[in-house]
Order: sequence, then structure tokens, then C-alpha cells
Amino acid sequence: MSSACFVVSLQLLYLFQVSNSFPLLHLISVGITTSSSLTPFDPGFNISAVAALAESLPTHSWEFGTATEALLELHSPLLSVFGPAPFPDAVYHPDSVPSLSYAAANIVLGTGANGLSDGAGAVGDPASLGVAAVMLGKTNASFAAAAKSEIDYIVDVAPRWVNGAISQRADVPELWADFMFMAPPFLAYYAADSRNVSLLEIAYRQCGLQREVLLFGSNSSTPSPLNSSPTNGLWHHIVGPQSAEPGLWSTGNGWASMGMARVLATILKAPAPPATPWRADAIADLTGWIKEIVDGARAAPLDGGLLRNYLNDTTTAHGFGEISGSSMLAAVAYRMAILAPEAFPAATYVAWADTIRVELGKNDAAGNPHITSEGIVTPAVNPLGWGDTAPWTAGSPEGNNFVVLMYAAWRDCIWAGVCTR
Ligand SMILES: *[C@@H]1O[C@H](CO)[C@@H](O)[C@H](O)[C@H]1NC(C)=O
Ligand SMILES: *[C@@H]1O[C@H](CO)[C@@H](O)[C@H](O)[C@H]1NC(C)=O
Ligand SMILES: *[C@@H]1O[C@H](CO)[C@@H](O)[C@H](O)[C@H]1NC(C)=O
Ligand SMILES: *[C@@H]1O[C@H](CO)[C@@H](O)[C@H](O)[C@H]1NC(C)=O
Ligand SMILES: *[C@@H]1O[C@H](CO)[C@@H](O)[C@H](O)[C@H]1NC(C)=O
Repeated sequence: MSSACFVVSLQLLYLFQVSNSFPLLHLISVGITTSSSLTPFDPGFNISAVAALAESLPTHSWEFGTATEALLELHSPLLSVFGPAPFPDAVYHPDSVPSLSYAAANIVLGTGANGLSDGAGAVGDPASLGVAAVMLGKTNASFAAAAKSEIDYIVDVAPRWVNGAISQRADVPELWADFMFMAPPFLAYYAADSRNVSLLEIAYRQCGLQREVLLFGSNSSTPSPLNSSPTNGLWHHIVGPQSAEPGLWSTGNGWASMGMARVLATILKAPAPPATPWRADAIADLTGWIKEIVDGARAAPLDGGLLRNYLNDTTTAHGFGEISGSSMLAAVAYRMAILAPEAFPAATYVAWADTIRVELGKNDAAGNPHITSEGIVTPAVNPLGWGDTAPWTAGSPEGNNFVVLMYAAWRDCIWAGVCTR
């Protein structure tokens, strides 16, 4: 299939959100081998340079996991949960799916919490490679077994907070907003792929339990009402005995809202049996919980057109305008304008995300481009030190990949006829 024909086919699929044409989808998805057709629109900066660097910067398990998801959304939009019909019973050959060849080259199979790579004490970080492990498992039993064993560890072994929320740390119960992007989307994907409705429900319930602690500081197992937090919907970073961090970290709110957007997309598209009484609640709750965060971010004071590293901090050096959280939250707004258009009207949410995308094409206050000729997106928060007050300009593995997620979300939104160039 020529790339021009391929793009037209993709665009039609997004426009009509075709759900009953699995053979066609499969034909198209296995035809994805080139990337030029997948960056058809100019976002105002060199997305090819950003994406190339995004692939080469990672060195830690969650960074490889984030890059794996970015590669999937960029190169294989029909296989991502944001595609129109991501759950055909298909076998994907790693060599024709860049995300999967990347994951296969970077996953280090192990045991327990480290089943999909050494997580350095984290539960969620290796799980960020879980979606790819499920897909790789279609052609390689070692990956299928590793994905199952990682699920069993997370659900049955990992420590739990008093309300049942699964810990981000393997040694003590401690909750991190970061966990939301890494584990619940994997639980949901594994569940949808294996038709396990109870596991799919666990993925949804976990989002509510984590929100309870990280947004409200409550230990309840029943979700608090929408829009009732003292922080205007914005999550704290870490609650627990080791690394407690009450700040309203921009990247953390990006992790949490994009994690929930992936769980929501999975629940919307999973081949669920008709009797799934919690499904309607899950769709309404997740939509509301994501919107709380995006609305809190939209209301936060900007710095140089970007969200601040600590979203409410206008007085100290921790509050500098920063690209990582900004681009992830913009990506969430683009995705939600498609997934839940009534709650996220394009006139408000796409317009807001566009301001961040357009800002990235400009220079910062010092006159330096936000995106350098090498494809570094700057200034970012230090990816290994959220409390660092020095803006990171050497290339953030997270930040570069979040910009790829934002680009893929914007491109798909144009294909769906909702965003404009
Ligand atoms: C964009 O970046 C790619 C990869 O670094 C490079 O090959 C290309 O020439 C750049 N395009 C422009 C217009 O600068
Ligand atoms: C499956 O993947 C593992 C880990 O990368 C590799 O060692 C093994 O050779 C693969 N097996 C097959 C049949 O490709
Ligand atoms: C579904 O997943 C849960 C949690 O991992 C597991 O306990 C259960 O056995 C699974 N059900 C089936 C039918 O595989
Ligand atoms: C929640 O549980 C933690 C851990 O047991 C405890 O330290 C904290 O005080 C509890 N918070 C509330 C609001 O009860
Ligand atoms: C920002 O929010 C945090 C967490 O609620 C709070 O501790 C801090 O005082 C707030 N900062 C400002 C400047 O309002």
C-alpha cells in the first residue's frame, strides 16, 4: 500500500471510527513500516528530530516504557488503545511495529517486581513495558509468560495502601502519581486482551483508589465527589513513608491523567460482555477524574506560556514554566476531545492544548528555541530530580517522549476531523 493511500485509509477510519472492519484494520496495521506518512502535519517544530531523540534518550525502565508507548502511538496508531478498534485477535510481528522491536530490545526479563526489567524498587516502572510485552507475547511465549507473571505480582503480591490502592514501591505501601501511567493501563490492556472482565474492573477501581489518596489525602475506598478537592483537582505527587511529596507536580498530573485516559480508552474499546454493570460508572468516573486534572491545569498560572513545574508555585524557583507536564497535559486534552467530546468540547480543550503546542514552536524568554535543532525540547524538569530548580536543557527522556505523545494525539485528532492544523 502506498503511503498516500495508507494515510487516506487511516483518516477514513478515524472519521468514521470504524469498529466492524477488523480484517481491513489488520491489513493496514501490518502495512505500517514507514514513518514519513505518520508525521503528515507540521506542528510548528521538527517532530522528526524530537521523535528520533525521544527514542535514544531513555536509560531507565519507565523511560523505555514511555518511549515504547510513544512509538506505538506515533507509528502504529491503529494498535494503540486510542485507535478506533485496537482489540482484534491479531498477531503483530515485532519487525513491522517499531514499538515492539524497541521493547524487545530493551526489556530485560526477570522475576517478581522486576519481571519486565529492573525497576530499582518500583512496582510500576517495569509495568510500563507491559502493553508491549502482551503484544510481543503473541509471537514469543517468553514475553507472554513475563506479562502474566508481572500482572500476578502487581495484583497479588505488591504492597497495598490501607484503602487497597496498589503501591508504587515494592518494599512499603507508598503511592505515586507516576504509577498511574505505568501500571493501570497495563492491567486494563492485559484484561481486554485476555477478556478478563474482573481484571478490567480492577484497573478502573485502582484509578479511584489512587485518586482518593493522592488528590484528597483520604483513605476511603469510595470515591469522593468530583470537583471537591482543596487543590482544584490537582493531584499531590507522593503519599507515603519514604518519599512523601505534597507538591502539585505538573509531570505527576500528566502521568495521572494520561494513565486514566489510556484506561478509559481501553474500557471503551474492550470487547466486554453485555453484562458489565460497572462499565457505565467507569466511563463517567474516569472522564470526570481526568477532567478535574485538566481543568485544574487550565486554571493554573502559566510561566512563559507553559505550565509550571509545580503548577501553583508562582513564588519560588520550583515553579518555572516547563515542557514535560505541559506537553503531556496537552496530549490528554487532545485525546479527551475525541474520547469524551461532550465533557471536553474542542472549542475549549483543543484550543487550550493548541496554545501549548504552538508555544513549543517558539523561543523561550531568553530567546532560545524550545526545540533545538538536535530535537531537544527545553526547558524541562530534571527527569531524575523533581525538586531541582535548574531547568534541564540536555534532553529529558520523559519530556521528549511526552511531546511525541502530544504530536500523535494532535495528528489523530486532525484525522478525526476535530482538530485543525
Ligand atoms: C528535522 O529533523 C530531522 C532529523 O533530525 C532532519 O533530518 C531534518 O532535516 C529536519 N528538518 C528540518 C526542516 O530541519
Ligand atoms: C523470545 O524472546 C526472548 C527474550 O528476548 C529471546 O531470548 C528468545 O529467543 C525469543 N524466542 C523466540 C522463539 O523468538
Ligand atoms: C482475571 O484476573 C484476575 C486478576 O489477575 C485473576 O485472579 C483471575 O483468575 C483472572 N480470570 C481469568 C478467567 O483468567
Ligand atoms: C491513612 O493511612 C495512613 C497509613 O496507614 C495514615 O498514616 C494516615 O494517617 C491515614 N490518613 C487518614 C486521613 O486517615
Ligand atoms: C500549592 O499547593 C500545595 C499542595 O496543596 C500547597 O502545599 C502549597 O502551599 C501551594 N502553594 C501555593 C503558592 O499556593
